[in-house]
Amino acid sequence: MKRISASQYLIFLLVLALSCFVAFAADENPTKTIKKVNAQPTATLNGADLFKEYCAVCHGNDAKGSGPASDALKKRPADLTQLTRKNGGTFPELHVMNYIKGQDVVAAHGNRDMPIWGSIFSQMSPNQDLVQIRVYALLKYIEQFQAK
Ligand code: HEC
Repeated sequence: MKRISASQYLIFLLVLALSCFVAFAADENPTKTIKKVNAQPTATLNGADLFKEYCAVCHGNDAKGSGPASDALKKRPADLTQLTRKNGGTFPELHVMNYIKGQDVVAAHGNRDMPIWGSIFSQMSPNQDLVQIRVYALLKYIEQFQAK
């Protein structure tokens, strides 16, 4: 067997020291922060699966606005079961579609806690029709759990 050279040994020590440092740094900051990761493209175009993958972290599996990341946001994620009720009994399809895509925000300049899904979905695939299909699948999924 080859003996480890002094420089390999030094590198090993350095890595060890670094990992201790990282562990410490993580411990020192117990307040909730949001770690941003890139959204992974899913093969699915099924509304329920898309919702679980991209929305539930903030809106919650029950869509009522209390997903695990919701405490760390400035604004509480909307209760998505109340959209029809708040709109006088009709599901506000166009509003929901534009809101998910983030079109109104891009047009304005505003800054919001919710990601702009239109541009995220459009970076996932060269086929831009899939953006619309994903947004529409989400919209139909949201429509079917509206509170009566
Ligand atoms: C990082 C957290 C976060 C994620 C992820 C997220 N949202 Fe939101 N969403 C919010 C917040 C916060 C609001 C409330 C207002 C705001 O700041 O935009 C909101 C508002 C909304 C609204 C507007 C509701 C209304 O009352 O008009 C819709 C519709 C919506 N989200 C759908 C979705 C869908 C669909 C997904 C997944 C593709 C999603 N959201 C993912 C945080 C999030």
